[in-house]
Amino acid sequence: MKKTNLVIGVIAIAGILTCLSFKSYNEGDDIAALRAIYSSGDSTKWPKADIDSNTVGFQEIGRLGAVPYPTDNLPNAEKVKLGKLLFYDPRLSLSNQIACASCHDPQLGWGDGKKLGFGHDRKLGKRNVMTLFNAGFYQKLFWDGRAKSLEDQARFPVADHVEMNIDPHEMAEKIEAIEGYKPLFKDAFGSDTINLDKILKAIATFERTIVSRKSRFDVFVKGNKEALSDDEVMGLHLFRTKARCVNCHNGPLFSDNQFHNDGQTLWGTANEDLGQYNVTKNKKDIGAFKTPSLREVGITGPWFHHGNFTELKDIVSTYNLGNPANIPKKYLGTPRDSLLPKTSPIIRKLNLTPKEQEQIIAFLQSITNQPPRVKIPVDFPM
Ligand code: HEC
Ligand code: HEC
Repeated sequence: MKKTNLVIGVIAIAGILTCLSFKSYNEGDDIAALRAIYSSGDSTKWPKADIDSNTVGFQEIGRLGAVPYPTDNLPNAEKVKLGKLLFYDPRLSLSNQIACASCHDPQLGWGDGKKLGFGHDRKLGKRNVMTLFNAGFYQKLFWDGRAKSLEDQARFPVADHVEMNIDPHEMAEKIEAIEGYKPLFKDAFGSDTINLDKILKAIATFERTIVSRKSRFDVFVKGNKEALSDDEVMGLHLFRTKARCVNCHNGPLFSDNQFHNDGQTLWGTANEDLGQYNVTKNKKDIGAFKTPSLREVGITGPWFHHGNFTELKDIVSTYNLGNPANIPKKYLGTPRDSLLPKTSPIIRKLNLTPKEQEQIIAFLQSITNQPPRVKIPVDFPM
């Protein structure tokens, strides 16, 4: 009898220990316990994230560090000031009407608040304007990754016929002819010669200063356990576990700096966009787009490369359904089949309850700040 009791006792203790070590903090969990762990200041104590084995370079979410600067374009205050002037100067366009800031407006989350942007002659662009928040943290720029640095990136909108529509060297000559710019280039670069390389470097340096301020999430994970509401804490937990968002939206940037097919090619429609495949011509890149950072996401809509999503709740419910991509049947069995997009295997149905979906949205708002106040230059060099 005694022996049986002992065996039962051992089994019970083992059972309790197993439960504790596999405790996954799912629905109905003690919110106080989650709050304590997540605000402990030590992310190694957090519950295990639900990460697939094929997830590349996972990094835990957390506070943003300093923006990296390339060694051949180190910053100084004068370069930032010059870059900002150039960013706001419409003379960088053929029409003298369109500045970078026409589409990247700080009051609109450094985007333009539209589904698709418009540029030269009010022609409509093909993709949603990307926010410039935290652009300095990306390894590749654009939805399809076609630019390798911010310096490299800035020549694209200048030359784009539906954006600023001018040959970049011609643009540099226009700026060179403005006497008032000479002293500013001297202050920034040590010599007053003006050329395209310096213009791009100054703009890139300004862009690297466009960094998110501390969000409530940052304050919370650093140790202020009251900085998030219960729903936001639960949303943070779901984001890392059941909803699996951290498979791609990870690291302090909430982007893995990778490209994934999220089921959004609009394949076979007039708006079809094969994303990174257009750049690499590699079939594995069909429909892959850059994972956007989710910092400030509450003020950077409408969302996705096509700008078709106007509400965060529709995005979360689409993920919940496993991002079904509608492939028009008329193309199946035709030669176009070879370009059939395949949604990333990381994406799957999530079975999130309506309440859980709301909590994820609440969490996304906790990594969003008010739009920044930016002093817009009014006096341009003549
Ligand atoms: C007509 C609107 C328009 C103008 C003007 C414009 N952009 Fe953009 N910008 C866009 C769009 C649209 C995208 C996304 C395009 C794509 O991925 O194909 C973008 C993307 C970017 C990105 C990439 C961000 C990322 O996370 O990858 C940067 C950086 C950027 N623009 C900077 C600039 C600069 C600098 C200028 C001025 C020289 C400028 N833009 C002018 C519309 C514009
Ligand atoms: C397989 C990687 C992957 C996973 C998992 C993932 N995302 Fe994304 N997410 C992306 C990519 C790639 C895009 C851009 C796709 C496009 O524009 O076509 C994106 C776009 C978004 C956007 C729009 C952002 C913008 O600036 O336009 C939001 C919001 C978002 N994801 C939230 C989430 C949430 C919430 C989850 C978890 C439920 C999640 N994502 C899971 C890769 C992923």
